[in-house]
Amino acid sequence: MVRPLLAASDPELASLPAEVLRARALALKRSRNAYIIAHNYQRGELQDLADATGDSLALAQAAIRADAPVVVFCGVDFMAETASILNPEKTILLPELNAGCPMAGMLTADQLRAKMAEHPDAAVVAYVNSSAEVKALSTICCTSANAVRVVRSLPHRRVLFVPDRNLGAYVQSQVPEKEIVLWEGFCPTHQRFKEEDIVRAEQQHPDAEFIAHPECRPEVLTHARHITSTSGMLDVVARSPASRFIIGTEDGMLYKLRQAHPTKEFILPTPRLVCPTMKMTKLASLVRSLERMEYEITVTGEIAARAKEALDRMLALTRESPMVAIAGY
Ligand code: 13P
Ligand code: SF4
Repeated sequence: MVRPLLAASDPELASLPAEVLRARALALKRSRNAYIIAHNYQRGELQDLADATGDSLALAQAAIRADAPVVVFCGVDFMAETASILNPEKTILLPELNAGCPMAGMLTADQLRAKMAEHPDAAVVAYVNSSAEVKALSTICCTSANAVRVVRSLPHRRVLFVPDRNLGAYVQSQVPEKEIVLWEGFCPTHQRFKEEDIVRAEQQHPDAEFIAHPECRPEVLTHARHITSTSGMLDVVARSPASRFIIGTEDGMLYKLRQAHPTKEFILPTPRLVCPTMKMTKLASLVRSLERMEYEITVTGEIAARAKEALDRMLALTRESPMVAIAGY
């Protein structure tokens, strides 16, 4: 991956009113012929501007479908890397250089090689929240939307699941016929959400349905009525007769849910469910990114080719996600 050394923040841009930034972003989007993608955890103003919003799986598919030479990925680095691996002919921009995922940083390629040597018979399933180098060593990738399906599809009895121990433990509970070896990685944001938080929220809102992301701690997941990816949450709410929901994931998801279901109530069980790197990207970052065409994320060579094989195996298993929201400007 080629990255410039300096992350630029432009105080002049940051001081402009939101309407001015929005108009500038739309004008630049047209002149650059760019397609804007925003993860469900992004700030509302970016979700509003995006051509596509969704979970990690839907957004990987959206980047492939994007009929534009430039894709701006409002999210974190592994998502832009995945887009680059799947679309080497497109220019992939990440507006904030330091928007990384700490979980992806919890496993290096060398650590994975050592673990694979301990379990030579195991298939390696890499959650997409991982580096391109880790994906390149893997049998297949997965996202939170398809992890159970991916693991079930494998002929291997033993699976080395990396790097998220919570998602891996959830998959183990759903696929008891396999032996899943876990890596001790985790999402620091979901890890801050403790069982006492959900117990308190359930006491305060006894009529609410609790929907949790599988990155949550196992003891939190035991309270959940539904465990699903961020876009899966939209699906659950659309099908449920309940009018109140406790949402066990990053707070950007509540913006998405409130927009889609304005008559329903959504409760964040703790204010600690905010991902600092997901929130780094602002409207001003998007404008700067389109103005300067930065920061270009590229994955090339053998790493890209091998990581693409692992991603393609996952995509071949996964039907088109119905939960991607596409807007047109
Ligand atoms: P999904 O949107 O794929 O469920 O992933 C959540 C996440 O943590 C992305 O960083
Ligand atoms: Fe990574 Fe967690 Fe932030 Fe997602 S919410 S980008 S998994 S730290």
